[in-house]
Amino acid sequence: MDLEAKKKVLRSFTYGLYVLTAQDGEEIAAGTVNWVTQASFTPPLVALGVKRESRLHALIERTGRLALMTLAQDQKAIAQDFFKPTQREGDTLNGHPFEPSPTFGLPLLTKLPYWLEAEVRHLYPGGDHSLVVAEVVEAGVRYEARPLVMWDTGWFYGG
Ligand SMILES: Cc1cc2nc3c(=O)[nH]c(=O)nc-3n(C[C@H](O)[C@H](O)[C@H](O)COP(=O)(O)O)c2cc1C
Repeated sequence: MDLEAKKKVLRSFTYGLYVLTAQDGEEIAAGTVNWVTQASFTPPLVALGVKRESRLHALIERTGRLALMTLAQDQKAIAQDFFKPTQREGDTLNGHPFEPSPTFGLPLLTKLPYWLEAEVRHLYPGGDHSLVVAEVVEAGVRYEARPLVMWDTGWFYGG
């Protein structure tokens, strides 16, 4: 295989940027991810690539639950804050306010425009990331915004 071409092709895919959260009791994990897509209308499924060696993966596997928020175009700095390990201080995660989601009580960052909660239906251990397929059980819109797009950030995660 032409490895350089493989990298360029996989990086040419269009991605958004999202903050993914999970929680088990007092333990919270939150991280910025881009390997996300809708995967079915009925039931409403989303599919995500989640790094095996991450606290997010451990909590999602253990609880079978996740929350996902879409970052807005002007929230690149928030995206950056969630590449780092998750630190909770009161009602903030990595310095950003959150509240519990209505169904599962998972952390929702209140500055982000769009959110959903989902229940894991399948977890395929593919390789260094698992493919997580989850059914959306609740969703909300705080305000309308253009989403942050991976290509416009100059970052890459893929290839
Ligand atoms: C640009 C970029 C995109 C990322 N996309 C993903 C992703 O799609 N899936 C994933 O599991 N991790 C992704 N990561 C890594 C997570 O942000 C990081 O592992 C996360 O903060 C989880 O850390 P934890 O070990 O504290 O749970 C990405 C990192 C960067 C820099």
